[in-house]
Amino acid sequence: MKLGIIFGTLDELEQSDQGRGKLLQVTLLGQELVIAKLDSGVVAMANRCPHRSAKLHLGWNCGSSVQCAYHGWKYGSDGMCIEIPALPDGPIPPNAKATVFDCEVKYDLIWVRLDNTVNTEIPAHLAFDDPSFTCTMGIPYTWKTHAARRLENYTDLAHFPFVHPETLGNPDFVTFLIPDIDLQPPGCMRFKYEPPEGGRNGMDAAGNLAPLIYTDYTVQLPFGVTLDQPLSNGTRTIMWMWATPIDERHCRTFWFCCNDTKDPFDPMVPIATQMAILEEDIGPVESQEPEQIPHPKDEIATAADKVSLTYRRMLFELCKAKAAGPAALETLLASERNNI
Ligand code: FES
Ligand SMILES: [Fe+2]
Repeated sequence: MKLGIIFGTLDELEQSDQGRGKLLQVTLLGQELVIAKLDSGVVAMANRCPHRSAKLHLGWNCGSSVQCAYHGWKYGSDGMCIEIPALPDGPIPPNAKATVFDCEVKYDLIWVRLDNTVNTEIPAHLAFDDPSFTCTMGIPYTWKTHAARRLENYTDLAHFPFVHPETLGNPDFVTFLIPDIDLQPPGCMRFKYEPPEGGRNGMDAAGNLAPLIYTDYTVQLPFGVTLDQPLSNGTRTIMWMWATPIDERHCRTFWFCCNDTKDPFDPMVPIATQMAILEEDIGPVESQEPEQIPHPKDEIATAADKVSLTYRRMLFELCKAKAAGPAALETLLASERNNI
């Protein structure tokens, strides 16, 4: 579903210059894109020259245009061809236009919208602009799984004692309170996880694991999550993630660790701790077949799977609304419901 706004990192774009200017090749929902930092701002184009279909990322960033490596045609920020070197006096065919997508930089990430028929929003980030928090971007990682499976893993309440017995979880606490889940605009599932005392840890600014008081979950449909975690040591950790669907079988997760401690700390330490925790998840998640969430009859669920069942139902509602048209999708994203 070409819903939403998804991205690469600004840092990767800055480092993409291989002597031909800043041009980054990325894939989003199977669509190859070239991201270019032009004088007018960051633009996203389909990675295909309309002349003879060479890939534009092989070309040059000329400042105000992207130039194809094959015959040198140049495309401006709106995608229109502005120069054909072999035909200096023109005419330039009016349909000589590279496909351009909506593109915006926010949270040091590059967001691209493949389908702008619906006025979707970039997901909120509770801590990024809050001066009381220090936010550090983690290293993006690619997993062999669909973005929806990745998101389910991130919001799975039953896996902690098994997958993370010595980090986030505790093997002595395998049950948990099944939460009520609300739907709040814009397209957010909200629920609170209150673990049994001593049953769960969260990570503080120094990368230490400290007993968790609770986690306030916001699932930013379709593929984002914010965890707001007050810890027993008096600080608050906010984890933010977005799983970008590269294609049907792979996703790339972009993420931040944020904490409001006043004590000085090395921001790379909690990043390293989180990466060690992610290592614990990757085996089970990448073993799931198929990579995409299957038909409901092909997996078994119980009441303890309420979060993933509700998430799957909301994805289904999103797909149905998308098929019904932009008005239905906007209505769904604006709706508010308790205990869904
Ligand atoms: S294929 Fe791009 S200029 Fe010819
Ligand atoms: Fe996990």
